[in-house]
Amino acid sequence: MTAVAENPAPSAVPAARACGADAPAVLGTGLSVPLASGGTAEYANFDYAASAPCLEAVRGELDEALPLYASVHRGAGYLSQVSTAAYERARRTVARYTGVRDDDALVFVRGTTDALNLLARCLPEGCTVVVFAAEHHANLLPWEHQGSRAGRVVRLPLPQSPQEAVRAAREALRAAPEGPRLLCVTAASNVTGEIWPVRELAEAARAEGARIAVDAAQYVPHRRFDLAETGADYVAYSGHKLYAPFGSGVLAGRADWLREAAPYLAGGGATGNVTDADVRWNDLPARHEAGSPNVLGAVALAAACRTLQEADQERLHAREEALLRRLRAGLAAVPGVHDLSLWDRGHPRVGIVSFVVDGVPAGLLAAALSAEHGIGVRDGLFCAHPLTRYLLPEGHGQAVRASIGLGTTEEHVDRLVAAVAALADRGPRLEYRDDAGRLVPVEPSEA
Ligand code: ALA
Repeated sequence: MTAVAENPAPSAVPAARACGADAPAVLGTGLSVPLASGGTAEYANFDYAASAPCLEAVRGELDEALPLYASVHRGAGYLSQVSTAAYERARRTVARYTGVRDDDALVFVRGTTDALNLLARCLPEGCTVVVFAAEHHANLLPWEHQGSRAGRVVRLPLPQSPQEAVRAAREALRAAPEGPRLLCVTAASNVTGEIWPVRELAEAARAEGARIAVDAAQYVPHRRFDLAETGADYVAYSGHKLYAPFGSGVLAGRADWLREAAPYLAGGGATGNVTDADVRWNDLPARHEAGSPNVLGAVALAAACRTLQEADQERLHAREEALLRRLRAGLAAVPGVHDLSLWDRGHPRVGIVSFVVDGVPAGLLAAALSAEHGIGVRDGLFCAHPLTRYLLPEGHGQAVRASIGLGTTEEHVDRLVAAVAALADRGPRLEYRDDAGRLVPVEPSEA
């Protein structure tokens, strides 16, 4: 049995709660979870960077859509018409929020990984791809993977400053053979939260006659990303990090490469006409949306975009910055804690902090934070192995990541800092054992 199956489910799910003035409410705040050390605690969710909870407003729109959903682009019935209209309305809403230009395309996909794999298959034959080793695997591996049409992939070493990143990208694009070139870069690191100089990189790409694709998965939950304003050619992001469940995501950008490529998946919806001898494929966006579209995913994503657009983004940003400062200052004051940064500690970042604690392995730290304090973090190498391994101090094989979002409170931050301080000082109170690669508390009956 897994640790998850052994843990009792929370007994009651509280109503959604707004954490802070004007902050949109998210579900699951105020949830009481059992502690292995006895009693319960309010769950402190520090794993927003993996999956953010659903916005209350998203649930509202899903509640309205659920009784009405039916096939999209396939049926003559009333509900099919309603669903088709909702799906295409969602596309327009998400496109507006993303600053999609008139001649761009926006394809609904399953998430960022899906989006970047799709783009890799749409590259013009022989395209040179330039990518930094700092990327999440979703933006590191698709270019070299089966099905990618990249002719050559240049993996640049980790730049020691944002300025060096721009310089190195420009030089690599300039040195690449004649022909199409694509620079692929994250807008914010999923390991350090550091914000990459996307505008400058877009300018450098443009100056070299190349294009740029931006992985905005970790950026959009914190700040709006605008394709037109940044001058980027493509952007990819996921709904499940943007407070919208249901496995939806976006690839948006220049239509030509997407239009000229073979459909990502072969099947219904992508086809205009099929005979025994021939297939006529549809134009964008249907060309790359074979199969029944995820209408609820699209509706959820659009509802999240609209809610964030209408919120006071400056206030939300200021609130997040204050929580992040509190968290970083608190952790910095704990002896033996080291946080991971590629660049200067003061470089702007979104609400993500990865760290290690001397003498307490990351897996044990994460397990104890959950079992003894009701705190959820992620531990490991965060699907960005080259970057995380490079940043780990000597003697550490993995790190813990705390990421914050709309439901995070000062109490959560203070509890996390106090728990890390106690674990760094005295270690866990309980005994732990390995259960299929994850540490779980030893039950009294097992002791
Ligand atoms: N990409 C997600 C993360 O960094 C899952 O946690």
